[in-house]
Amino acid sequence: RKPVWLDCDPGHDDAFAIILAAYHPSLELIGISTAAGNQTLDRTTQNAYKVAYISGLPNTIPIIRGCEETLCRQVQICPEIHGQTGLDGTDIPDHPEYKTLSDKHDDNFLWNIYKRITDVGRPVTLIATGPLTNVALLLKVFPQISKSLAEVVLLGGCIGLGNMEPGSEFNIMNDPEAAHIVFTSRHVPRLVMVPIELTHTVCATQQISERLRALSSRYASILDHLLLFFGATYKQVFQFDAPPLHDPCAVAYVANRDLFEEQIMHVGIERRSEYCQGRTVCDLYDMHRREKNCVVTLKMKNVEQFWDMMLDAIQLANKN
Ligand code: BDR
Ligand code: CA
Repeated sequence: RKPVWLDCDPGHDDAFAIILAAYHPSLELIGISTAAGNQTLDRTTQNAYKVAYISGLPNTIPIIRGCEETLCRQVQICPEIHGQTGLDGTDIPDHPEYKTLSDKHDDNFLWNIYKRITDVGRPVTLIATGPLTNVALLLKVFPQISKSLAEVVLLGGCIGLGNMEPGSEFNIMNDPEAAHIVFTSRHVPRLVMVPIELTHTVCATQQISERLRALSSRYASILDHLLLFFGATYKQVFQFDAPPLHDPCAVAYVANRDLFEEQIMHVGIERRSEYCQGRTVCDLYDMHRREKNCVVTLKMKNVEQFWDMMLDAIQLANKN
């Protein structure tokens, strides 16, 4: 099994990314770290614990509270999509260990993530489904982590339209300086970006809810309610008929790359711009003739197969 570390900001779709990373048969989730993004770091950390708890993740998988702020800017949280808790829509019980472990700042969080990753002894894939603050700090403070990384796969960015501003996607726009560090780092063996035009083809339709409900369990009902809330906010803000389940798409890439069409290209991060701060400038046609620093996934070839994979992981978690 491929060892993976998941840095996330749960978040409805991050919750599904945790489940897929923990229960896909070809992946071994070795740890989770949290970023501020969809909600404050307090909330996203609490949510990571909640999801781990209800999904039956073993306590041997650490959950490390990451950086409280972004590198240079104010964190912009997203209650209009994820609600006041970051996981609105249902009451999820707290992890029994949450109170003792995660409500205080961990001075050594970066070292702890680094140590856990390097201790694996095999190249680890780092998956990021939130703003890239923790990943950028890791690469800057511990560049030697490079030897322990297989690749960094991130959910974020857009080739065309954004979702936070017309040209900028939420995760990248929240911390463009961190994104710039990651996209220009010499310490990432391979960088993969899963942009939102891809995830906009992976929507949790009514049929998916029905498959969840057919599991007839408390666990499945919690997930169903999360999707209902997410669907309602996506309808209200973006007029989508069904919500795109962004984050698990990055996990799916690591589990089965054959499911994706991809192209390597130069991607630059716009940091100062009147209209396009946080834009991922994807040079699809190699107009700038700059170094090709990023594999961009252009299409998910078989969305049905993704849902089968996601539902299989949920069924396994459900049994736990
Ligand atoms: C990203 O933004 C967040 O709201 C989601 O969790 C996802 O990571 C999509 O733009
Ligand atoms: Ca996220």
